[in-house]
Amino acid sequence: MLQLYTELAEQFVDEKECVAAKEEALSALHTLLEGTGRGSNMRGWLNLPNPLERKEIEQCKMIAQMWNGTMDVVVVIGIGGSYLGAKCALEAFSHSFASAGERNSPHIVFAGYSLSEDYMADLLGYLKKKSYAIIVISKSGTTLEPALAFRILYNEMVARFGIEDTRRRIVAVTDASKGALKSMADRYGFMTLTIPDDVGGRYSVLSAVGLLPIAVAGFDIEALLGGAAQAKEQMVKFEQDNPVIRYAALRNLMYRCGKKIEVFINYHPKLKYLGEWLKQLFAESEGKEHKGLFPTTLDFTADLHSVGQYIQDGERIMFETAVLAGSKEVEVAIPSSIDNMDGLNYLTGKTLEDINRCAEAGVRQAHISGGVPNIYIEMERIDEWNMGQLFFFFELSCAVSAYMLGVNPFDQPGVEVYKRNIYRLLGKPQ
Ligand code: PA5
Repeated sequence: MLQLYTELAEQFVDEKECVAAKEEALSALHTLLEGTGRGSNMRGWLNLPNPLERKEIEQCKMIAQMWNGTMDVVVVIGIGGSYLGAKCALEAFSHSFASAGERNSPHIVFAGYSLSEDYMADLLGYLKKKSYAIIVISKSGTTLEPALAFRILYNEMVARFGIEDTRRRIVAVTDASKGALKSMADRYGFMTLTIPDDVGGRYSVLSAVGLLPIAVAGFDIEALLGGAAQAKEQMVKFEQDNPVIRYAALRNLMYRCGKKIEVFINYHPKLKYLGEWLKQLFAESEGKEHKGLFPTTLDFTADLHSVGQYIQDGERIMFETAVLAGSKEVEVAIPSSIDNMDGLNYLTGKTLEDINRCAEAGVRQAHISGGVPNIYIEMERIDEWNMGQLFFFFELSCAVSAYMLGVNPFDQPGVEVYKRNIYRLLGKPQ
């Protein structure tokens, strides 16, 4: 089970305020579960995996099986919540040097999360001699970036494989009844999976949005869902020592005492995209009505050599939330050296994991002494079960935190403004 450590941050706040904030968090959890808060029609993610979605889970596995061995590559098209959960999970579970052809499952690549022509040109070149399939994910079915990527790739696919064969190569994950993507799927006969109406993009990783790409990549979605279900059992509880309550309370207290930036930190390159997923989850859920912590991410120890100076000595406006994870069983120990030219013999026999752990502890102490509160979360290892727990923990914490802040955790009115400008500049018909 995940462990949350808050003691090093609690020393920055008053004990009484801490107890009061936990009471507020409990009341926010109540609001969420009772459905009496803003956006209460968007709480379907609390029930994922829902027994009703069992059929979809089986479909994900069936599609994975169908494409395994027949597709070299699967292109996952999506942006924001329709992409970051799967990207985060695949980065976490994959071998660091996995590339096409090294696993039985297809190589997963992503598209539709930018408008870069270079990227698309490279992708089209890469797919030229590959047998490939497409998973296109868009709840609204009208988002510009994925819609454009899909149009380009669909065109290429039909030209290369013909209209009939193309049908078995495309799955659309979208709304059950509305949107352009749903209409296209119906007209052209693509396979479809549904994003439930009451699940928003950034809370959708445990629906077909995340599960299908993860299953197609060959990872264990049952374990992912099992971890999430266990987390739900442990965390939907009205207790002051519930980690969700402790975390939501503390990050709100940090905000109130002027620590307006939450830095999500990892010590494993495989968790880089966890930071990206977290950034979206918290920023889109909380950043509204001129309120909200600004979430950002750092990769340690790499960023200690770039941003470390600022964290230690710059403006005192941030606190850190680190996600720590044990390594796999494979040890990499430091060898001894006869001439010890690099002076590292004092580390002989230690594993890199031992040294990484010392780095975590050393950095923590340094940043605390520099006035940067530190929260950290430990998971046993980076695998499907633990990531399932982590996804649920952060989703629940985020919704509770947003209610404490007094905003709707489930809408994103601010993202429409730039979209209107892009459409105007592109001359989109009204
Ligand atoms: O979390 C959200 O709601 C957003 O980030 C959406 O996921 C993102 O804008 C993509 O939207 P859609 O799935 O409709 O293409």
